[in-house]
Amino acid sequence: MLRIKEGELVHLIDRKGRRYHILLNAGSSFTFRHGTISHDEIIGVEDGSVVKSCYGEKLLVFRPTLAEYIGKMRKGSQIIYPKDIAAILMLADIFPGATVLEAGIGSGALTMALLRAVGTEGKVVSYERRGEFLKIARSNIESFFGTVESAGKEGSGELVVKEKDVYEGIDDKELDRILLDLQEPWRALKHVEESLRNGGILLCYNPTVLQIYKLSKRLELKYAESFRVMGIYEIGMRGWEVKGRSIRPEHRMVAHTGFIFVARKCAPVE
Ligand SMILES: C[S@@+](CC[C@H](N)C(=O)[O-])C[C@H]1O[C@@H](n2cnc3c(N)ncnc32)[C@H](O)[C@@H]1O
Repeated sequence: MLRIKEGELVHLIDRKGRRYHILLNAGSSFTFRHGTISHDEIIGVEDGSVVKSCYGEKLLVFRPTLAEYIGKMRKGSQIIYPKDIAAILMLADIFPGATVLEAGIGSGALTMALLRAVGTEGKVVSYERRGEFLKIARSNIESFFGTVESAGKEGSGELVVKEKDVYEGIDDKELDRILLDLQEPWRALKHVEESLRNGGILLCYNPTVLQIYKLSKRLELKYAESFRVMGIYEIGMRGWEVKGRSIRPEHRMVAHTGFIFVARKCAPVE
């Protein structure tokens, strides 16, 4: 049985589906519109239990998933949404034991998913040129792997963070995967060509079609022999509601977020 411990982050959900995110501290209490509940009453219950406020209002207690944690964590930069992260892990074929380079780290949303996916034998190297974002990302990552019991810390890979501009070069070589989430990925292509192993995957994430056009053109004109474009994708995800006989899509959705561009590195022609 997985019991909730002191010092953990938990999600509380009320009967209207409102979610509250709290860090459990013995002796503290949590107040919301339907009363107060002491943290001590939550510490020790099983994940998924129901607890009651002083007014008898029920709250469900869950350990947050990574997607829920990303939704609530501190953001310095624009993050990649979980719907896109899910597809990125598959399209970049992130596998246990892989060595992956990403730039930039931003708020660390993608980094956390990569760390889980590469597993204990794998490594994630993150380049970021802005020190203030590095600090936010580090604190988000440490908090997730340190205080979220469901983070899967036993199985996560090694993280190496470098305050570095990827347009100026990549020190690491023979990388299995390179993921670029920055404004002008074409400026890093020369370094990607030198650092990605043959057969390796380059994945770029960009919000506008002009960026994707420029990236495709640069690859075609200067790197046609080194890279084969595998596809360009956009991910749509729409929630549905079921209320009695009313079954319909939710009114709101996160629509366009970014394009996912995937290319593979080719070995030189003999
Ligand atoms: C959109 S954010 C990345 C968000 C991140 N993928 C996440 O999911 O939280 C882009 C980041 O790239 C960084 N960046 C931009 N150009 C860079 C460069 N040339 N080298 C390293 N980092 C860069 C920015 O400072 C910013 O933090």
